[in-house]
Amino acid sequence: MINIILQRKKDEILNIYEELLSAKNLKPSKNINATFSELVAIVQDTPIEHSRDILDNIEIRKIQDDLRRMSSRAESELELFWVKNVLKSQNAEKILKFFPYYSNYEKMSDLEIKSMQLCDVHKGHKALFVGSGPLPLSSIMMARKCGISIDNLDMDDESCKLSKELIKKIGLSNKIKTIKGNILDIQDLSNYQTIFIAALAGENDEEKVKIIDHIVARSKTDTHIVMRSVSGLGVLLYPEISSTHLKNIKVIRRSKSPRDIINNIIIGKIK
Ligand SMILES: C[S@@+](CC[C@H](N)C(=O)[O-])C[C@H]1O[C@@H](n2cnc3c(N)ncnc32)[C@H](O)[C@@H]1O
Repeated sequence: MINIILQRKKDEILNIYEELLSAKNLKPSKNINATFSELVAIVQDTPIEHSRDILDNIEIRKIQDDLRRMSSRAESELELFWVKNVLKSQNAEKILKFFPYYSNYEKMSDLEIKSMQLCDVHKGHKALFVGSGPLPLSSIMMARKCGISIDNLDMDDESCKLSKELIKKIGLSNKIKTIKGNILDIQDLSNYQTIFIAALAGENDEEKVKIIDHIVARSKTDTHIVMRSVSGLGVLLYPEISSTHLKNIKVIRRSKSPRDIINNIIIGKIK
């Protein structure tokens, strides 16, 4: 019976991949939203002990990187669509809250804030958010809830331009700055006490290791590193942070995924 269920899930994932591949683009639409919701539901409903069987399937292995790349593109398109809506609107705060994953960001940033508040080493935290994207909800929530100053970093021109306009529109320019650049080109990170790495900054294992190693080598000892990872079938959407990524990081906390959220959070300190 279980084999039949697992085979059905593999087929569903392969069908989703084909549908996304044949789509004209990955901008939010009724079809694209429904297809991603279906994928998210499969990821969330599959117990971790069954995910290995699905991920080891040769056909799934072949499409995994490509599926993740498309998910990342779709996430950026969704954020672009929403930031443009918010910028056009007379009531930015109201529209911002209509973002479909708003409550997920709230749950994740609450966990991240709690862990920063447990810190007895640093008095104030100046943070860097690597891969803040067009709609930098995590930074917005953190700046509002705990008053920290954050530098948002993204290598994409349009994401930086729109997110900067958003930050200005909602009155947070004194707390959040936007820097356009690739983290791999930044040589000194010693000013930051906390560095957040977005789930999709580094879309595969190799890129993720490169980004984390680069940050570790350029930050002070005891700097907090906050990373978003996944478990089980979550790797179809985001890279998983494993021990290879954490060579020079002392893990101080690993949160389980909050309910309805695919990401889990790993908080560490640089050794
Ligand atoms: C999908 S988006 C936004 C992430 C999302 N808002 C979050 O909180 O996880 C991921 C962003 O990471 C950025 N990014 C990826 N690699 C990067 C790098 N090496 N340096 C700077 N930005 C990077 C991309 O340009 C993209 O805008």
